[in-house]
Formats: sequence, structure tokens, C-alpha cells
Amino acid sequence: LFVNASQISATKIQQTMFGISFEEINHSGAGGLWAELVKNRGFEAGGQNTPSNIDPWFILGNESLLIASTERASRFDRNEVALRMEVLCDEDGNNSCPAGGVGVYNPGFWGMNIEQGKTYKVIFYVRSLNPLEMSVSFIGSNGLQTLATADIIEADVSNWTKVEVLLEAKGTDHSSRLQLTTTKKGVIWLDQVSAMPLDTHKGHGFRNDLFNMIADLKPGFIRFPGGSFVEGEWLVNAFRWKETVGPWEERPGHFGDVWKYWTDDGLGYFEYLQLAEDLGALPVWVFNNGISHNDQVDTSIILPFVQDILDSIEFARGDAASTWGSVRAAMGHPEPFDLRYVAIGNQDCGRKNYHGNYLKFYTAIKSAYPDIKIISNCDGSSQQLDHPADLYDFHVYTNAKSMFSMAHNFDHTSRSGPKAFVSEYAVTGQDAGRGNLLKALAEAGFLIGLERNSDAVEMASNAPLFVNANDRRFNPDAIVFDSSQIYGTPSYWMQHFFRESNGAILHNSTLQANPSNSLIASAISWQNAKNNKNYLRIKVVNFGSNIVTLKISIDGLEKNKIQKTGSAKTILTSSNVMDENTFNGPKKVAPVTGPLENAGNKMNVILAPYSLNSLDLLR
Ligand code: AHR
Repeated sequence: LFVNASQISATKIQQTMFGISFEEINHSGAGGLWAELVKNRGFEAGGQNTPSNIDPWFILGNESLLIASTERASRFDRNEVALRMEVLCDEDGNNSCPAGGVGVYNPGFWGMNIEQGKTYKVIFYVRSLNPLEMSVSFIGSNGLQTLATADIIEADVSNWTKVEVLLEAKGTDHSSRLQLTTTKKGVIWLDQVSAMPLDTHKGHGFRNDLFNMIADLKPGFIRFPGGSFVEGEWLVNAFRWKETVGPWEERPGHFGDVWKYWTDDGLGYFEYLQLAEDLGALPVWVFNNGISHNDQVDTSIILPFVQDILDSIEFARGDAASTWGSVRAAMGHPEPFDLRYVAIGNQDCGRKNYHGNYLKFYTAIKSAYPDIKIISNCDGSSQQLDHPADLYDFHVYTNAKSMFSMAHNFDHTSRSGPKAFVSEYAVTGQDAGRGNLLKALAEAGFLIGLERNSDAVEMASNAPLFVNANDRRFNPDAIVFDSSQIYGTPSYWMQHFFRESNGAILHNSTLQANPSNSLIASAISWQNAKNNKNYLRIKVVNFGSNIVTLKISIDGLEKNKIQKTGSAKTILTSSNVMDENTFNGPKKVAPVTGPLENAGNKMNVILAPYSLNSLDLLR
């Protein structure tokens, strides 16, 4: 491998080159990154054929003790349904309530993770014509152990009343439930029941362990909220940003009909922008362009949708006095968010109205916000686009071999047109298992190809990012979690090898011999912000089953030679290329770093079979 490490003929890689694509899929947001523990908090959840239901709430007490039903009795206009509980039993007399009372409990998203010593904020809205006596408790998975409890006594709740209580857990159970019970006869209406841990990232509602996993990737951007989630199977179920902003209690929630689950939309448009800011990543807002999988808005009547998206940009960027900027300010963020990228739809290029709708959105956005970069869904890698765009979206899901060979996909792409946004790439199918080493290596080869073509590719992200192990709608994924555990698949760890590429300098590098085309390599210069030292990083994937001794020769270093001390080699490999990580073995396939004792301008490096290697050479 010859590397020309001089600055001449080197290219600067975009600061946004590697990022993440966050989709509300696999319960990645609801029941995932969004730390809300209660599922269907407003009793509003509907399905394809169900207008609303109380699933997964359970009723404690049989019909002789309690009648529970839903009613359009909420104090909130946009989510009208509330729970009505008619308590028939009492503290004494013939029909006395059981000792623990009667009521309802919510098991959350496959169990709530309640941890000893941690504090949880429970909020609910209640109404009753009688004085209120109610217990709010976290109960263990056996239904018996009380982990935390508080008694709520209110003399007058004849008007809807907000109740807020902090519960400190005295024990730990990863599969707990939130229970609301009473022993007093009468009718009680309940609505908008929320339970959140106090320790979310910066108090912004993001589950810390999941947030930290993605922050560790140092993403240059975050694309949200999908994916197909943006489109919907039907327009009526698409993501509508205005229904996801403002006070959480007032959001109607919606049924995401592509991935077939209800979201309360606690993680809404504002929270996505906040997430981007907290990650130090640029937000990429993918909006619905009037097209779903099964129906479309005609271009002749698309203008209200265009105005809706202009409003969304004003919400993000407008000053606090603007109509929508003021809504953002009222939510606690008077400063604008740094929104610079929007994508007009997801995977909609071939659809009948795409072209017409696209042009309406494009023209209106460019005239109001000329600096915003607009992403088209049409692939411009093999032919010129027939419409204006700053970037074009490129998605690839394929087997391992073809993913590895797609490293050369952009080698001959025109450098004069819009650049590529490879917003979804993944090895799928049998090759990938549930996320194995083979998948990670093929994707690493592809990414090295993108890096080498970073004058034609501006951004790239793996998809999907997250999966709640209880709802694997799309397999494989980069990060797997449940209520309390989390691990990165090899593909997640592979992405760590590219974290320092954002804003780095790409050097020319050439493989002189490449038996079976099983090797691919790139070279970058980057500066470690922690020690202010400069490194030359050479990455090589060995996608073959043989050990390779790679002879490396580095030219063009102005003054500093490579220093042996301080240089390091990081490798991602395993004894079997089909190996995966699990909750019990979360780092079976993870990067291992060691010194590189023979570091120098000329050196031999041993590449293990099926391995990703990163040599950080201190200059
Ligand atoms: O990443 C999973 C899905 O794959 C996305 O929702 C969609 O864009 C693609 O088809």
C-alpha cells in the first residue's frame, strides 16, 4: 500500500461526512431513546382498524368492583379520550375493596426499568366529583413488590387537576409497572399519565445509555424521523410535525402504520431538533411531501403542505417573535436551531407526483431560505438529475459481497452535480444474521469507498440505528436494547473507526497488489482534540479468509516522521466471521487497540482474516 501523506492533492472530508439516521422504527424512540415509561399515556392509542384503545393498560379489579371504560372527556382538545373508572367497592361495607385497592396499571414498553435510589417524576390528570384518595406506585414484575409509592389526597378535583409526584425507588426491577389504585367508591377520570426518570440527558428526556451510545459515534448529522415512518402507508398516518410540538399533554399521538405501532409523540419535532443540538450534530429534517406508500396529494393542491413545511423551518430557525419561532421559544428554546438540511420525502422518486410536488417544495424553500440544502430522493450517481437539488439521497440494502464491491459505486460519478447523501446503507438478509462481523466488514469496505470518494459523497449513515429487542420490525440494526440493557452490534463498532474522518484530510493511497480484490484501504490525517497531536490513520479491510502481510510505504510527510511511541493499531475481528454480540456478550466483537511497535514510514502489517484494521500513526 502506497500512501502519499502530503497535503498537496489531499481533499478535505466534509465535517458532516458520517452521521446517524434516526427513524421511529423498532420502538427506537417510543419505548427507546425517549425515556417515557408509560405506553399509551393518554388512553388514545389507535390501530389500523381501532380508533382508540387502552392497551397495554390492565384493570385491577373485576366488574363487581370496578368498571373501566374510555370516554371523550379529556380536558385536552387534540386528544379527547380519557379513562373513566367507576369504583363500585368501598373501604368497608358489603362490597369492600381488596387491600391494595382497585384501579389500573401500565407495564410500559415490555416492563419499566425502575432502579433503586433513582427518582421518577409521575404526572397525571385526574377528575372526580368526590375528594381524591389514590395510591401511585411502581410495582415489581411479580405484581407484589412495591418499589416506590405515594398517597395522593386532594380535597377537590371536580375540575381536571394536574397531579405531580416524585417517587424514589427502594428496589430495582427491570420489568416493573406503574399502578394507580384507590379504595374509595365513586367515579374517577384519568388522563395523560406520564412517568419519567429524572436523570435523562440534560433533563431533555433522552435515555442516558442510548444517548451516550450515539454520542460516542460523534455524528456529524442526525437524519430524522425516518425512513418510511415519514411517509406512512397512508397519508393520514404520516408524521405531521405540528401535532408533535407544544405541551406533551396536548399532543394527539399517532399510529405509525408502516411499523405498526402507536406513538404518543413525546419525541416530537422539537425533541428531534434538541437531540441534534445535544449531540453536536446538524439536523436533517426529512418531511412528508404529500406522498405515502399508498396515496398521494396531487401537485395542484400541494400548497398547504408546502406552507406547513415552511412553518416547520420557521419553527426551527425563526426568531422568538415569529409565529412558529414563538412556539419553539415557549417550549424553552428561544435561540433558533441550526437547521441547514431538509429532505423532500423518503424513497419517493419513482412515484407519480414526486417530481411535481418536489419542485413546489424546492422553489418555496429556496426562495424563503436560500442557504438551506435540499435533498432529492432521486439517485444522481449514475445520471444527472432532471431537477435542481443540493444533494441526492442514495439507499442501499444488499448482501455482504455486493456491499463490499459497492465501495467503487461512486468512483465514476460526476463531480460537478449535486453530491450524494447515502442516508441508508446496510447489509441485510442471511449474510447479516442479527448483525454480525461479516456485515460490519462489508459495510466498512463500503464506507472506505465513500471516504475515498468524499468529493462526490457529502454524508452517510447506517440504518436502522436502534432496535428494541422486543419489537424487531427491521433486522439487522446497529444498537440493540431493552428496558435496561444495551449493546452495539459489530456494525456499530465498525462506525467508531470512521468517527475521526469528519473534517479530516483524505490522502491518496493505492494498493499495488490486491489478490481476489479482498482488500480496501484509505488514509486520512486527523488531529486528536484531546492531546492536540496529529495522526495519519490508515484503515484497511481484509474481506478474505487468509492472513495478509501488507507492506506499507508512506511518502510525502513534510517534516515529522512517524513516531513509534504513541502509534497504535485498532482491530475489529473475531474467530468466526458470523459472530454477533448479545446482551450476555456485548463486546464479543468490538475494537481492540494495542501499540504498533513497528510503526514507521515503511512497515509490514499483519491483517487477520476478515478484519477491519486502523493504524493511527503519530506524526
Ligand atoms: O431503514 C429501514 C427502512 O428501509 C426505511 O424506513 C426505509 O427508508 C427503507 O426502505
